Amino acid sequence: MHSLIRLVILLAAVPVVSGAAVHATQPDRNAQALSVMKTSFQAKGQAGMDRLNQDKTQALCSLHAPAAPPAEPTAKVVAANLASIKLPADGKFLGDWKRGQAIAEEGTGEQYSDDPAKPSGGNCYACHELDKQQIAYGTIGPSLYRYGKNRGSSEPILKLTWDMLYDMKGYAVCTAMPRFGSKGILTEQQIKDVMALLFDPDSPVNK
Ligand code: HEC
Repeated sequence: MHSLIRLVILLAAVPVVSGAAVHATQPDRNAQALSVMKTSFQAKGQAGMDRLNQDKTQALCSLHAPAAPPAEPTAKVVAANLASIKLPADGKFLGDWKRGQAIAEEGTGEQYSDDPAKPSGGNCYACHELDKQQIAYGTIGPSLYRYGKNRGSSEPILKLTWDMLYDMKGYAVCTAMPRFGSKGILTEQQIKDVMALLFDPDSPVNK
């Protein structure tokens, strides 16, 4: 057969072949991706293979990504995340903003190469603008500049902010923001210190 004719036949066949392959459903694709990760990833340091197991929130978001998951079961998942939030044992929301600033700037913790005995950072600047002194920040999250100054520090505002730091997936189910409290990334004291960074009038966030 003439080689040009062969090429035309071959090209005509391509969409048919690839068309057949795209019929895998999203759950199939997720299962395939998981099995690839399970065979190619290795546990190292504190990063165990258990990290590949998604919880209900993560599984729900992965199943529908990039679209938002449907109202039900989202409402149930959000309610469970809200129920996981623990308020400060002594009822005080605010710690020390200077320590909070160090936590916001600290990006280490939770990785295989980090010492699990050391406290983790919040890495807030990776996603948020917080003050005008730090000019290297990410924009995945909204600017938090003048957070307390703009909102005041009434009890409901303090509680809402505590909740969002503790588990943002109780508010925006598929958010990229880490769940600092419910996933044990920051301690109760560290969350208080970060809260002070957001609310203290002397904090650079409110200057
Ligand atoms: C990986 C990115 C990421 C990191 C790290 C991160 N955030 Fe966020 N944050 C977000 C996103 C995205 C939102 C918006 C919520 C949403 O998804 O709708 C948000 C929202 C917020 C809000 C609510 C803002 C508002 O106006 O209601 C606060 C407060 C906040 N973050 C504080 C923090 C603090 C403090 C830290 C560090 C301890 C932090 N975030 C770390 C991504 C991040």
